Amino acid sequence: MRVHVKELADAAMEALVVPSFTRIGYDLRRSMFAWTPLDDLTMTDRVVAVTGSTSGLGEVTATMLAGMGARVRLIARDEGRARAAQERIARSTGNDDIGFYLADMSDLEAVRRCASEIRDGEPRLDVLINNAGALLNERMESADGYEMTFATMVLGPFVLTEALVPLLAASDDARVITVTSGGMYTQRLHLDDLQLEREPYRGSIAYARAKRAQVALTRVWAHRYGDTSVVFHAMHPGWAETPGLAASLPRFGTLLGPLLRTPEQGADTIAWLAAAPEGAGSSGSLWLDRRPRPFDKLPGTRVSASEAIQLWDACERMATPRDDDSD
Ligand SMILES: NC(=O)c1ccc[n+]([C@@H]2O[C@H](COP(=O)([O-])OP(=O)(O)OC[C@H]3O[C@@H](n4cnc5c(N)ncnc54)[C@H](OP(=O)(O)O)[C@@H]3O)[C@@H](O)[C@H]2O)c1
Repeated sequence: MRVHVKELADAAMEALVVPSFTRIGYDLRRSMFAWTPLDDLTMTDRVVAVTGSTSGLGEVTATMLAGMGARVRLIARDEGRARAAQERIARSTGNDDIGFYLADMSDLEAVRRCASEIRDGEPRLDVLINNAGALLNERMESADGYEMTFATMVLGPFVLTEALVPLLAASDDARVITVTSGGMYTQRLHLDDLQLEREPYRGSIAYARAKRAQVALTRVWAHRYGDTSVVFHAMHPGWAETPGLAASLPRFGTLLGPLLRTPEQGADTIAWLAAAPEGAGSSGSLWLDRRPRPFDKLPGTRVSASEAIQLWDACERMATPRDDDSD
């Protein structure tokens, strides 16, 4: 009976959004449900690659996993920032097995090169965390001519993940975790306008649609690679105080103030999915605060299995190197 009441309280918070996404939701769930401390989990000898690990949630996640003994590989677009994060993580955890690879996640050739370097440089890969992302207030295009938000958060992770699945599948417990956003609940997939060319650009819309697409890809991957040792999770961190949030939504951050989660609270479910036994037990779910959550909340935003596969096909077409197109 008591478990039932807790489930109801959690569902009510989930429906109300604001308590769920702020630190109120994190604190209540942590107090209501069994919550293994991250310090009790070990990642000794596990190889973990984290994109967007020079700042915010990605750096905190990399630090948490390094603290558990993981061999952490940062994937970053700037060598100076990668080196600085590598030093900070090594210094704060005492773990000196922290390496880095370079790629701008919006640049598909750079991502392909990075994946190839990881395949050459690492004997195996146990966890890939697709975390890099940003909300851009002006429309920009990537080196390949794609809308920048979509390129960074959908096409780049698509190329990286597909290229690393063989290396991941060599591990008998491999996990891919993609960091999406609760903002995705506001948007459906627009398969006919993935580049946002048919309406005035709004950064928050581009961001929410790319986040929606990440979750759709996670479900396709779970199905597509269901007969391998690799599982796929999407998670959203709620609203956490990070440099990214402060830069892209300054007024929102000020409005929520002390209700924002700490970066550690936002990253908790990422690290837990990477390290806890529960992270190996399912594939294709969307998580918040260590529990699976619905894929959609608003009418008209549900993504069908067929639409998700169409998205995967579109990504594959866009990600095919141009030189190969003429073959
Ligand atoms: N904070 C929140 O409340 C919140 C809520 C929902 C979802 N998220 C998601 O959580 C993830 C992390 O966000 P955050 O809040 O921690 O932001 P952040 O502090 O700005 O960190 C973003 C990271 O992504 C990297 N990055 C951005 N664009 C990149 C690119 N084109 N290529 C390679 N790396 C790139 C950044 O690298 P540089 O250092 O080079 O800029 C940085 O390391 C994002 O996917 C974000 O959408 C955050």
